Amino acid sequence: MNSISTLFEKTYGHSPDICASAPGRVNLIGEHIDYSEGFVLPFAINDCTEVAIARTNDTVIKIASVQRKSEVLSIALSDISPALTGDWERYVLGVIWSLGITSGLEIIVDGKVPLGAGLSSSAALEASVATALNSLFSLGHDLPTLARLCQRAENVYVGMPCGIMDQSVSLMANKGSALLLDCRDLTTRNIAFDVASHGLELLIIDTQAHHELVDGGYAERRASCDEVVAQFNIISMRHLTMAQLDSKKAEISPTQYIRARHAVTEIARVMDAVVALEKSDFAELGKLINASHASLRDDYTVSCPELDCAVDAAIAAGALGARMVGGGFGGSAIALVKAENVADTKIEIQRAFEKAGYKAPRFFTSLPSQGARIL
Ligand code: GLA
Repeated sequence: MNSISTLFEKTYGHSPDICASAPGRVNLIGEHIDYSEGFVLPFAINDCTEVAIARTNDTVIKIASVQRKSEVLSIALSDISPALTGDWERYVLGVIWSLGITSGLEIIVDGKVPLGAGLSSSAALEASVATALNSLFSLGHDLPTLARLCQRAENVYVGMPCGIMDQSVSLMANKGSALLLDCRDLTTRNIAFDVASHGLELLIIDTQAHHELVDGGYAERRASCDEVVAQFNIISMRHLTMAQLDSKKAEISPTQYIRARHAVTEIARVMDAVVALEKSDFAELGKLINASHASLRDDYTVSCPELDCAVDAAIAAGALGARMVGGGFGGSAIALVKAENVADTKIEIQRAFEKAGYKAPRFFTSLPSQGARIL
């Protein structure tokens, strides 16, 4: 019996019908372009959220989480609506709502993806619940459909206007590979990402910073892209080239121009990164990662002093490349580092944080791991 199943039994007094897990993610490259029909190259990390579920004969959803001392919340199925306020359980309820489940459920969640670190703990929670429910009710949704249903839960139920990257990689990632995801049609290609055999490590640096802008800033960036798309009468940023953007520069505001420049150049960088990885050219990958950070910092303006500090310190310590990951305004950065330099790089980053008076960063590392699965 797995441990989530034992926890379920302790909480509800009988065994669950199904258990599933889904991982968090880091994104190698391709930031803030999933909602612009771009390409992204994330991979699943080792840390997962686990869930155990049993169906009941009543019309109540009971949810507990190990992180909340297994206190059981009870919500009537008829009360589930995007208008219902709440906390983390909204991600679970959102998926139940999005999948159209009409049966009572008992649920326990064990969230092992570090919270608030920008490693997609919320997508891991959605994907684990969706995977379990899809199987328990034999819904037959394929993985792209499940990803879209999870995104709908987050967009409409939770109210966060996220793109499709986090849910997709949590559901579709494969061990040993980064996932090249075409955000237009959710087709994927596994790109081998084996840093270890090249004497490298991908260091994840959680800045522990969380700036206010997270929600409003994200929606504002998305809106800028939508405005440019409408102004140029194109389908998405995917359909724009730098030459076209430059020739129409006068038709948009300076802010819209730099937002669009990020989107166009970042999509190109993802394709270049795939070529670099296929040649095991990690020096080139490092340069692309650095260019991505500069674009996010200067054009998209979604970085923050703590992320810049982590990136600058990692590069000063010899990293091949470093950049912020995820939505920005806090959360984590990644650094591609020679394995023998990892310890020193951490010390240099810690020193830089201390000098700037920032809260001490946390460090993680992870090989590319498997996406969601039934346990
Ligand atoms: C968050 C969102 C994703 C994506 C990233 C930025 O993680 O959930 O959809 O837009 O930000 O790349």
